[in-house]
Amino acid sequence: MTSQEIRNQFITFFQDKNHKFVRSAGVVPFDDPTLLFTNAGMNQFKGIFLETETAGHPRAVNSQKCIRVSGKHNDLEEVGRDTYHHTFFEMLGNWSFGDYYKTEAIQWAWELFTDVWKIPKDKLYATVYKDDDEAFELWETLTDIPRENILRFGNKDNFWEMGETGPCGPCSEIHVDIGGDPAIHGSHPELGVNTDSPRFMELWNLVFIQYFRDQSGELTELPNKHVDTGAGLERVVAYLQGKDSNYDTDLFTPILDEISSLSGIAYEPDEKGMAHRVIADHIRMLTFSISDGALPSNDGRGYVLRRILRRAARYGRNLGMNDAFLYKLVPTVVSVMGDAYPELNERVAFIQKVIKSEEDSFSQTLGRGLQIFSGIIKDTKAAGQTTLSGQDVFKLYDTFGFPVDLTSLMADEEGFDVDLEAFENLMKSQREKAREATQLKQTHTQDSQWEILNAGAHSEFLGYTHPKLDTSIAQVLKSDKNIDVILTQTPFYAESGGQVGDTGRIYNAKMELEVLDTRREGDSIVHATKLFSGEFNTDPVIAVIDSQRRKAIVRNHSATHLLNAALRKILGDHVKQAGSLVDATHLRFDFNHFEKMTPAEISEAERLVNAEIRENNFASIRNMSFDEAKTEGALAFFGEKYGDEVRTVKFGEYSHELCGGVHVQATGDIGFFRIESEAAIAAGVRRIEAVTGKVAEENARLERETINQLRHLLTSDVEDLGSKTQHLLDEKKALEKQVKVLSFDQAASILSDILGNSKSIGGVNVLSEIVEVPDTEALKDLGSELIRQMKSGLGVLGTVIEGSPYVVCVVSDDVIAQHKLKAGDIVRELGQKLGGGGGGKPQLATAGGKDAAALKTVIAGVFDLIGDRLG
Ligand code: ALA
Repeated sequence: MTSQEIRNQFITFFQDKNHKFVRSAGVVPFDDPTLLFTNAGMNQFKGIFLETETAGHPRAVNSQKCIRVSGKHNDLEEVGRDTYHHTFFEMLGNWSFGDYYKTEAIQWAWELFTDVWKIPKDKLYATVYKDDDEAFELWETLTDIPRENILRFGNKDNFWEMGETGPCGPCSEIHVDIGGDPAIHGSHPELGVNTDSPRFMELWNLVFIQYFRDQSGELTELPNKHVDTGAGLERVVAYLQGKDSNYDTDLFTPILDEISSLSGIAYEPDEKGMAHRVIADHIRMLTFSISDGALPSNDGRGYVLRRILRRAARYGRNLGMNDAFLYKLVPTVVSVMGDAYPELNERVAFIQKVIKSEEDSFSQTLGRGLQIFSGIIKDTKAAGQTTLSGQDVFKLYDTFGFPVDLTSLMADEEGFDVDLEAFENLMKSQREKAREATQLKQTHTQDSQWEILNAGAHSEFLGYTHPKLDTSIAQVLKSDKNIDVILTQTPFYAESGGQVGDTGRIYNAKMELEVLDTRREGDSIVHATKLFSGEFNTDPVIAVIDSQRRKAIVRNHSATHLLNAALRKILGDHVKQAGSLVDATHLRFDFNHFEKMTPAEISEAERLVNAEIRENNFASIRNMSFDEAKTEGALAFFGEKYGDEVRTVKFGEYSHELCGGVHVQATGDIGFFRIESEAAIAAGVRRIEAVTGKVAEENARLERETINQLRHLLTSDVEDLGSKTQHLLDEKKALEKQVKVLSFDQAASILSDILGNSKSIGGVNVLSEIVEVPDTEALKDLGSELIRQMKSGLGVLGTVIEGSPYVVCVVSDDVIAQHKLKAGDIVRELGQKLGGGGGGKPQLATAGGKDAAALKTVIAGVFDLIGDRLG
């Protein structure tokens, strides 16, 4: 059986039991600040368990793309060392949302494993939570698993939680005895379960979700009980294909073959194959996460990607691959996985480009890291020590991506140890910092102070067509500052997909509420309001949005779609939306692209969008199935969570996207489109800011005013403005040069008058005079010229520029050497006397101060000062 068949059989098995197939969510979690990566099939259903969202169907089945490299579930250290932990894996799962519970979950898992997949019953072991007698009995009575194969375990093994906070509950796992040396565990094989024994492998986890763990660690009972299961596809496939290792299945062998052919080193399933396994694992993680919108960077999720990529690249070097090679593996990953996850097929070239450029920059970093390493060795040796400090090892790890085992190895070659304990402590504090950065933001439903006025359905959005509605208040939450209101029906759009929430008014005869913002919380549309007048009451209300503001927003939103299409035409199909924001004043569109756009490309994008505006095509908005939308070529944005039914927005044949937002009726409504800026915001991501309608018109008007002003000042036509300005600038430069030459000549002529005023003090020729120069630059030049003409000696020149005194001191080299007189020391003293300070080189130094009146005395005092210094 192929992995594809096994995946499909799992899904069909549960579809036959009335489960609805749900597409895998992206590995970059949608709207969940508690997670860096999707780590379990249940993530996308979290809102349903917490009852902030309603389930579309009471039962679901899927195959979820998961990544476990951070937070509560982190398998990174195991990857490559063993044959069944991965950074990226697929989780097969079935769910009940307040529908069936333990009975069916256990019964069906048993049926699939033993009836359909014919796994020998005596090889299977079921674990239950220590107090869960119910689950224990169900295994005993509903299945024919040997009684002695049902085992109890505590919190560590049989209580499952998705993260530090979130839905959780006791679980029941199914492990399989994969055989091997019967001597291990003797006549009590069950002793091997949950011990990392090579004989046992966990295949399936059935979680009975019934609690919520909050930030304080407290467990509260959820209103309903749910089932959440997860079976690692790679392990199931390995078992069913009769393989000892996940890496020997058809999910991995094509990738390992490719690594062997690139490196010329064959894969070996034992310890020697570690590098192959790490690379094969990591390239899957990288391919999927980049495909779903993550990019390597210096913090958070991007930093995880960067480290994984560097780890793989380092292992590649162990196989003699010193140049970028990971990117060459992407097409193989996609050929294995592209049928199950078609989104990969569209993005191969982009993923390769991201990986290649990151590999190239790592090569440079690695080169620098090797230099730093040599420096560290040198310094440690010089300090008479034989152990590299934890700080140094951490720096190599953190900044230069050196895995600690590599540093240890290289240190060993040089006869040095490594302070691993100090390194581990630094790692620990870094992990703690990372954990603090991902704390759960509570949703309102967990602190249920909402006053329910109307228990029926609520939050029906009618604002696509109605700016104003007669409606009623369904729920209200009052705080000191705000009154949050949920309506039965509402014209207010809640912030989503980059479109900001509506503002407006909710009122009746006795009060008026000002709506400051509208947001979505689960299935609820929450209006954040302030009492504007009257007294709050729950009589029927009229809800009306600020239509002018909304019109400005939708102009920007529709323009974003046209811009997306234009960029794909001009720059290529690799352009994918990476984020967007549309409000009443402007639009912001982030997209994947590697080069700065040229001015010509920017103009072309503007031109195409404006041409489309003039076409005045109607917005054709249709609901259809996700698959149908994809077949019709509608663009989906990977940051969004799409249901089965999707809404598509099409403008002529030009633009077609999945979108839940509000749009203009026809493109002509946008009026006018202008790009205001284009810049990079991260590696491979660029941002365009643009305006439409009235704001675009206003910006054009302001620009014309400025141009008219310039035309007037330069007495020029618009066409000649550039050349005239250039001419003026050239002229200015030439004049400045001339002024400099003239003023220097003038000053230099002073020198001939004053050179004769020098006195010999202690054998040193000293000159100190006040001169007139235009600026400090000229003063310095004059000083240089003075010492050149004096040949041997010390000179001080003082001047007043715009009311402030300045001095320059110059000393010839022979005087510095013989008499230890340094210009820097002398000006420091002079500067102080002038109420300021100064400094510089021994040959030339300057000082300035505030007290211009003191300059005369200071200059006259130089002879005594030098006399004192020379004793
Ligand atoms: N959510 C459960 C797990 O990840 C099924 O193991």
